[in-house]
Amino acid sequence: MTGLLAPEASPVRRKARLRNYAMCRPEHFEVTYSINPWMDPGKPTDKALALAQWENLRNLYAELGHYVQTIEPAPGLPDMVFAANGALVVDDKVLISRFRHPERQAEADLWAQWFRDHGYREIVQADFTSEGEGDYVTTGRAVLAGNGFRSDPRSQAEAEALFGRPVVSLKLTDPRFYHLDTALAALDDDQIVYYPGAFDAESLRVLQELFPDAVLADEEDALLFGLNLVSDGYHVILPEPATRLAARLRDHGFVTYHVDLSELLKAGGSVKCCTLEIRHP
Ligand code: ARG
Repeated sequence: MTGLLAPEASPVRRKARLRNYAMCRPEHFEVTYSINPWMDPGKPTDKALALAQWENLRNLYAELGHYVQTIEPAPGLPDMVFAANGALVVDDKVLISRFRHPERQAEADLWAQWFRDHGYREIVQADFTSEGEGDYVTTGRAVLAGNGFRSDPRSQAEAEALFGRPVVSLKLTDPRFYHLDTALAALDDDQIVYYPGAFDAESLRVLQELFPDAVLADEEDALLFGLNLVSDGYHVILPEPATRLAARLRDHGFVTYHVDLSELLKAGGSVKCCTLEIRHP
Protein backbone atom coordinates (compact mmCIF):
# COMPACT_ATOMS: atom_id res chain seq x y z
CA MET A 1 0.00 0.00 0.00
CA THR A 2 2.99 2.36 0.07
CA GLY A 3 2.48 5.51 -1.95
CA LEU A 4 -1.28 5.19 -1.82
CA LEU A 5 -3.23 7.65 0.25
CA ALA A 6 -6.77 7.04 1.38
CA PRO A 7 -8.96 9.97 0.26
CA GLU A 8 -9.61 11.03 3.87
CA ALA A 9 -5.87 11.26 4.49
CA SER A 10 -5.35 13.75 1.67
CA PRO A 11 -7.65 16.69 2.31
CA VAL A 12 -7.55 19.67 -0.03
CA ARG A 13 -4.65 21.99 0.74
CA ARG A 14 -6.18 25.17 2.12
CA LYS A 15 -4.51 28.54 1.96
CA ALA A 16 -5.24 31.63 4.01
CA ARG A 17 -5.33 35.04 2.33
CA LEU A 18 -4.77 38.08 4.53
CA ARG A 19 -7.88 40.22 4.76
CA ASN A 20 -8.92 43.76 5.57
CA TYR A 21 -11.90 44.03 7.86
CA ALA A 22 -13.96 46.93 9.15
CA MET A 23 -15.63 46.60 12.54
CA CYS A 24 -17.58 48.76 14.99
CA ARG A 25 -17.18 48.52 18.79
CA PRO A 26 -20.51 47.71 20.50
CA GLU A 27 -20.17 50.86 22.60
CA HIS A 28 -23.89 51.58 22.37
CA PHE A 29 -25.11 48.03 22.03
CA GLU A 30 -28.50 47.09 23.49
CA VAL A 31 -31.74 45.59 22.25
CA THR A 32 -34.28 48.40 22.28
CA TYR A 33 -36.43 47.30 19.31
CA SER A 34 -37.18 44.10 17.47
CA ILE A 35 -36.62 43.79 13.73
CA ASN A 36 -35.84 40.06 13.59
CA PRO A 37 -37.14 37.02 15.49
CA TRP A 38 -34.03 36.85 17.71
CA MET A 39 -34.52 40.29 19.25
CA ASP A 40 -36.47 40.62 22.49
CA PRO A 41 -36.24 44.11 24.01
CA GLY A 42 -37.62 42.65 27.25
CA LYS A 43 -34.41 40.63 27.77
CA PRO A 44 -31.53 42.44 29.49
CA THR A 45 -28.19 42.86 27.70
CA ASP A 46 -24.76 43.33 29.25
CA LYS A 47 -22.76 46.00 27.44
CA ALA A 48 -19.47 45.25 29.22
CA LEU A 49 -19.76 41.60 28.23
CA ALA A 50 -20.67 42.51 24.64
CA LEU A 51 -17.56 44.71 24.48
CA ALA A 52 -15.31 41.99 25.91
CA GLN A 53 -16.67 39.38 23.50
CA TRP A 54 -16.23 41.73 20.56
CA GLU A 55 -12.63 42.55 21.60
CA ASN A 56 -11.87 38.82 21.59
CA LEU A 57 -13.02 38.57 18.00
CA ARG A 58 -11.00 41.59 16.96
CA ASN A 59 -7.89 40.24 18.71
CA LEU A 60 -8.27 36.89 17.02
CA TYR A 61 -8.32 38.55 13.58
CA ALA A 62 -5.15 40.42 14.51
CA GLU A 63 -3.48 37.21 15.75
CA LEU A 64 -4.28 35.58 12.42
CA GLY A 65 -2.54 38.48 10.68
CA HIS A 66 -5.60 40.30 9.36
CA TYR A 67 -5.88 44.07 9.29
CA VAL A 68 -8.82 45.52 11.20
CA GLN A 69 -10.07 49.08 10.89
CA THR A 70 -12.89 50.48 12.96
CA ILE A 71 -15.69 52.99 12.50
CA GLU A 72 -16.72 55.25 15.37
CA PRO A 73 -19.90 53.88 17.02
CA ALA A 74 -22.78 56.37 17.20
CA PRO A 75 -25.18 56.73 20.12
CA GLY A 76 -28.75 55.72 19.33
CA LEU A 77 -27.62 53.14 16.77
CA PRO A 78 -27.38 49.95 18.86
CA ASP A 79 -27.10 47.66 15.82
CA MET A 80 -24.14 49.52 14.33
CA VAL A 81 -21.86 46.80 15.75
CA PHE A 82 -23.12 44.71 12.81
CA ALA A 83 -20.65 46.29 10.42
CA ALA A 84 -21.35 43.73 7.69
CA ASN A 85 -24.61 45.53 6.98
CA GLY A 86 -23.10 48.93 6.25
CA ALA A 87 -21.85 48.30 2.73
CA LEU A 88 -20.65 45.85 0.14
CA VAL A 89 -17.09 46.41 -1.05
CA VAL A 90 -15.80 44.62 -4.14
CA ASP A 91 -12.48 45.62 -5.68
CA ASP A 92 -12.27 49.30 -4.77
CA LYS A 93 -15.96 50.04 -5.27
CA VAL A 94 -18.43 50.55 -2.46
CA LEU A 95 -22.18 49.99 -2.51
CA ILE A 96 -23.47 51.78 0.58
CA SER A 97 -26.52 50.14 2.11
CA ARG A 98 -30.08 51.37 2.24
CA PHE A 99 -31.54 49.81 5.37
CA ARG A 100 -35.05 48.40 5.41
CA HIS A 101 -35.89 49.48 8.95
CA PRO A 102 -35.95 53.16 10.03
CA GLU A 103 -34.14 52.16 13.25
CA ARG A 104 -30.96 51.47 11.25
CA GLN A 105 -31.20 53.93 8.37
CA ALA A 106 -28.88 56.55 9.87
CA GLU A 107 -25.99 54.06 9.77
CA ALA A 108 -25.72 54.42 5.98
CA ASP A 109 -24.46 58.03 5.97
CA LEU A 110 -21.86 57.21 8.62
CA TRP A 111 -20.49 54.44 6.46
CA ALA A 112 -20.49 56.61 3.34
CA GLN A 113 -18.46 59.21 5.24
CA TRP A 114 -16.09 56.55 6.56
CA PHE A 115 -15.33 55.29 3.05
CA ARG A 116 -14.79 58.86 1.80
CA ASP A 117 -12.41 59.48 4.72
CA HIS A 118 -10.55 56.29 3.85
CA GLY A 119 -9.83 57.36 0.28
CA TYR A 120 -12.44 55.40 -1.65
CA ARG A 121 -13.55 57.19 -4.82
CA GLU A 122 -16.35 55.05 -6.18
CA ILE A 123 -19.02 55.14 -3.49
CA VAL A 124 -22.64 54.68 -4.51
CA GLN A 125 -25.64 54.34 -2.25
CA ALA A 126 -28.15 51.68 -3.30
CA ASP A 127 -31.48 53.05 -4.56
CA PHE A 128 -33.30 49.99 -3.30
CA THR A 129 -33.06 48.28 0.08
CA SER A 130 -29.68 46.61 0.32
CA GLU A 131 -28.09 45.48 3.58
CA GLY A 132 -24.49 45.05 2.50
CA GLU A 133 -22.61 41.88 3.29
CA GLY A 134 -25.56 40.75 5.37
CA ASP A 135 -27.24 39.81 2.09
CA TYR A 136 -24.32 39.76 -0.36
CA VAL A 137 -21.67 37.04 -0.24
CA THR A 138 -18.78 37.50 -2.68
CA THR A 139 -17.24 34.38 -4.21
CA GLY A 140 -14.90 33.93 -7.16
CA ARG A 141 -17.76 32.54 -9.25
CA ALA A 142 -20.41 35.14 -8.51
CA VAL A 143 -21.73 37.52 -5.94
CA LEU A 144 -24.53 35.65 -4.15
CA ALA A 145 -27.43 37.89 -3.19
CA GLY A 146 -30.09 37.07 -0.62
CA ASN A 147 -33.60 38.51 -0.64
CA GLY A 148 -36.96 37.70 0.84
CA PHE A 149 -36.69 39.56 4.15
CA ARG A 150 -34.31 42.51 3.86
CA SER A 151 -32.56 43.39 0.61
CA ASP A 152 -34.78 44.20 -2.35
CA PRO A 153 -34.03 42.00 -5.40
CA ARG A 154 -33.86 45.21 -7.45
CA SER A 155 -30.67 46.16 -5.57
CA GLN A 156 -28.99 43.20 -7.28
CA ALA A 157 -29.00 44.93 -10.66
CA GLU A 158 -27.37 47.92 -8.99
CA ALA A 159 -24.65 45.70 -7.56
CA GLU A 160 -24.11 43.99 -10.91
CA ALA A 161 -23.78 47.33 -12.71
CA LEU A 162 -21.41 48.80 -10.11
CA PHE A 163 -19.10 45.81 -9.69
CA GLY A 164 -19.33 44.31 -13.18
CA ARG A 165 -19.62 40.83 -11.70
CA PRO A 166 -22.46 38.34 -12.05
CA VAL A 167 -24.92 38.55 -9.18
CA VAL A 168 -26.98 35.46 -8.40
CA SER A 169 -30.32 35.88 -6.67
CA LEU A 170 -31.20 33.57 -3.76
CA LYS A 171 -34.54 33.64 -2.01
CA LEU A 172 -34.64 33.18 1.76
CA THR A 173 -37.83 31.64 3.15
CA ASP A 174 -37.32 31.17 6.92
CA PRO A 175 -37.62 34.38 8.99
CA ARG A 176 -35.08 33.11 11.51
CA PHE A 177 -32.51 33.32 8.71
CA TYR A 178 -33.44 36.79 7.55
CA HIS A 179 -30.04 37.75 6.10
CA LEU A 180 -28.09 35.59 3.65
CA ASP A 181 -25.11 35.54 6.02
CA THR A 182 -27.17 33.68 8.63
CA ALA A 183 -27.65 30.76 6.19
CA LEU A 184 -24.63 30.74 3.87
CA ALA A 185 -20.95 31.61 4.06
CA ALA A 186 -17.99 31.68 1.69
CA LEU A 187 -15.16 29.44 2.90
CA ASP A 188 -12.86 30.52 0.08
CA ASP A 189 -13.25 31.80 -3.49
CA ASP A 190 -14.81 28.55 -4.74
CA GLN A 191 -16.23 26.87 -1.69
CA ILE A 192 -19.31 27.72 0.36
CA VAL A 193 -21.24 26.22 3.26
CA TYR A 194 -25.01 26.64 3.59
CA TYR A 195 -28.17 25.44 5.29
CA PRO A 196 -30.53 24.25 2.52
CA GLY A 197 -33.65 24.68 4.69
CA ALA A 198 -33.34 28.47 4.50
CA PHE A 199 -33.87 28.71 0.70
CA ASP A 200 -36.65 28.17 -1.82
CA ALA A 201 -36.47 25.31 -4.34
CA GLU A 202 -35.21 27.40 -7.28
CA SER A 203 -32.40 28.89 -5.18
CA LEU A 204 -31.34 25.42 -4.05
CA ARG A 205 -31.17 24.33 -7.67
CA VAL A 206 -28.95 27.31 -8.48
CA LEU A 207 -26.69 26.65 -5.48
CA GLN A 208 -26.33 22.98 -6.38
CA GLU A 209 -25.38 23.88 -9.92
CA LEU A 210 -22.85 26.56 -8.95
CA PHE A 211 -21.36 24.76 -5.95
CA PRO A 212 -21.92 21.01 -6.34
CA ASP A 213 -19.26 20.32 -3.66
CA ALA A 214 -20.55 22.80 -1.07
CA VAL A 215 -20.47 21.83 2.59
CA LEU A 216 -24.02 21.44 3.88
CA ALA A 217 -25.12 22.47 7.36
CA ASP A 218 -28.21 21.26 9.18
CA GLU A 219 -30.89 23.14 11.07
CA GLU A 220 -29.15 22.72 14.42
CA ASP A 221 -25.93 24.25 13.03
CA ALA A 222 -27.92 27.11 11.54
CA LEU A 223 -29.87 27.82 14.72
CA LEU A 224 -26.57 28.11 16.59
CA PHE A 225 -25.62 30.79 14.03
CA GLY A 226 -22.86 28.45 12.81
CA LEU A 227 -23.22 29.78 9.25
CA ASN A 228 -22.50 33.30 10.45
CA LEU A 229 -18.79 32.55 10.16
CA VAL A 230 -15.74 34.29 8.76
CA SER A 231 -13.15 32.36 6.76
CA ASP A 232 -9.86 33.57 5.29
CA GLY A 233 -9.61 30.47 3.13
CA TYR A 234 -7.98 28.34 5.84
CA HIS A 235 -8.91 29.64 9.30
CA VAL A 236 -12.63 29.63 10.02
CA ILE A 237 -14.00 31.60 12.96
CA LEU A 238 -17.42 30.61 14.15
CA PRO A 239 -19.69 31.03 17.17
CA GLU A 240 -18.72 28.90 20.15
CA PRO A 241 -21.71 26.54 20.28
CA ALA A 242 -21.44 25.45 16.63
CA THR A 243 -19.07 22.56 17.39
CA ARG A 244 -20.58 19.97 15.05
CA LEU A 245 -20.32 22.26 12.06
CA ALA A 246 -16.75 23.09 13.08
CA ALA A 247 -15.89 19.36 13.06
CA ARG A 248 -17.33 19.02 9.55
CA LEU A 249 -15.25 21.99 8.36
CA ARG A 250 -12.10 20.46 9.86
CA ASP A 251 -12.84 17.31 7.82
CA HIS A 252 -12.71 19.57 4.78
CA GLY A 253 -9.23 20.80 5.69
CA PHE A 254 -10.09 24.03 7.53
CA VAL A 255 -8.75 25.05 10.94
CA THR A 256 -11.54 26.26 13.22
CA TYR A 257 -11.66 28.85 16.00
CA HIS A 258 -14.57 29.52 18.30
CA VAL A 259 -15.59 32.85 19.76
CA ASP A 260 -18.36 33.46 22.26
CA LEU A 261 -20.61 36.27 21.01
CA SER A 262 -23.65 35.31 23.10
CA GLU A 263 -24.51 38.96 23.91
CA LEU A 264 -24.63 39.99 20.26
CA LEU A 265 -26.73 36.97 19.41
CA LYS A 266 -29.50 38.64 21.43
CA ALA A 267 -29.76 41.08 18.51
CA GLY A 268 -29.62 38.27 15.94
CA GLY A 269 -25.98 38.61 14.94
CA SER A 270 -22.65 36.86 15.37
CA VAL A 271 -19.15 36.63 13.88
CA LYS A 272 -19.86 37.54 10.26
CA CYS A 273 -22.40 40.24 11.12
CA CYS A 274 -19.67 42.04 13.08
CA THR A 275 -17.23 41.91 10.19
CA LEU A 276 -17.27 43.82 6.91
CA GLU A 277 -14.64 42.66 4.46
CA ILE A 278 -12.95 45.42 2.53
CA ARG A 279 -11.61 44.15 -0.74
CA HIS A 280 -8.84 45.90 -2.58
CA PRO A 281 -8.01 45.10 -6.19
N1 ARG B 1 -30.33 43.41 14.74
C1 ARG B 1 -29.70 43.46 13.47
C2 ARG B 1 -30.75 43.53 12.36
O1 ARG B 1 -31.76 42.88 12.50
C3 ARG B 1 -28.82 42.27 13.27
C4 ARG B 1 -28.03 42.32 12.00
C5 ARG B 1 -27.18 41.14 11.81
N2 ARG B 1 -26.30 41.31 10.73
C6 ARG B 1 -26.08 40.42 9.74
N3 ARG B 1 -25.15 40.69 8.90
N4 ARG B 1 -26.82 39.36 9.61
O2 ARG B 1 -30.59 44.19 11.38
